Amino acid sequence: MKFLHVVGARPNFMKAAPVYRSLAERGQEQVLVHTGQHYDALMSEVFFKALEIPSPDESLNVGSASHAHQTAAIMSSFEPVVLARRPDVVLVYGDVNSTVAAALVCSKLGIRIAHIEAGLRSFDRSMPEEINRRVTDQLSDMLFTPSIDGNENLAREGIQKEKVFLVGNVMIDTLIRFLPRADERYAKLRSELSLDRFGLVTLHRPSNVDDEAVFLPMLGLLDELSREMPLIFPVHPRTRQKWSARLEQCNPNLRVIAPLGYLEFLALQKNARVVITDSGGIQEETTYLGTPCLTLRENTERPITVTLGTNILIGRDWGLLRKHFHEAHKGARKKVGCIPLWDGNAAERIAEILGR
Ligand code: UD1
Repeated sequence: MKFLHVVGARPNFMKAAPVYRSLAERGQEQVLVHTGQHYDALMSEVFFKALEIPSPDESLNVGSASHAHQTAAIMSSFEPVVLARRPDVVLVYGDVNSTVAAALVCSKLGIRIAHIEAGLRSFDRSMPEEINRRVTDQLSDMLFTPSIDGNENLAREGIQKEKVFLVGNVMIDTLIRFLPRADERYAKLRSELSLDRFGLVTLHRPSNVDDEAVFLPMLGLLDELSREMPLIFPVHPRTRQKWSARLEQCNPNLRVIAPLGYLEFLALQKNARVVITDSGGIQEETTYLGTPCLTLRENTERPITVTLGTNILIGRDWGLLRKHFHEAHKGARKKVGCIPLWDGNAAERIAEILGR
């Protein structure tokens, strides 16, 4: 059988890496397509290197644009590739524009689609990712879920249960594999960034960073909190582009730096007293690592990180943020239960099912 993987944006790379590896170990024929949704070296190439993913067989170089233009560009450049390569199954990951674009192309060509990280729902259609997830799941032939809530969501949407496989979390496979290497990096990082007690911040969601009335009070609060405990803030290009002048005016304890590589970021997540974020994947990684995670969103498509993990939904309740920040600063950590199947073997289970 021939498998074709589609990746495009930073969070895709750590999901595809273990699946590619497991299929390679089984001697399966594989093709890797990079859409180029993310193209800066720090958003793409460094992850391929750190995660030991082979160079893409095809690069579509679509770059940034509005949602419609980007999705359309991926579709029109992906169609000839998929026609020429003739895979039996196309694997798509997560919820980015590259995911839904590839799924749309394959569904019209009658090529089987496997969606890895299926079934997640925030129930918030103002998030572009929620649209991408719903459409991709409707079009997919095999849906691999990371947690049981995914199966429940898909059942509610009428997706036949024969198509759905609860396999666990491939992002955690990557974390488990690379944590020892991240640990090795920490001492150097610690001295380079002069770290003692610190928090870690990431912000890139349009709902947080696009609107001045939302972002500037948030930045002001982070600036205030960083005077109590330094905050390391690797800035996503989207946030940097919009706010570079404002970011430069922050006090030096709010350490605004370029995006980090996978191992460096993982090392910081593990050793931070607290992580403040609006990312999806980071909610999962902090849960696995036991690091308190304060999520600057009203909802999450990963509710298991709240019920079993370290995640707390802050929304825009700055009193709540201050309270949990202070607790974390003092070293408070919730005892976390193991999440079923977040055990480092999700990709193995996927490869086994795909090979049947
Ligand atoms: C995308 C995903 C989001 C994911 C995030 C992770 C969608 C709808 N969104 O958001 O789910 O959490 O990736 O990073 O697919 N840019 C650069 N260099 C790059 C890439 C982007 O400068 O390599 C800038 C461009 O100005 C671009 C903007 O960032 O317009 C946004 O990039 P885009 O890929 O549209 O969405 P993200 O915000 O990165």
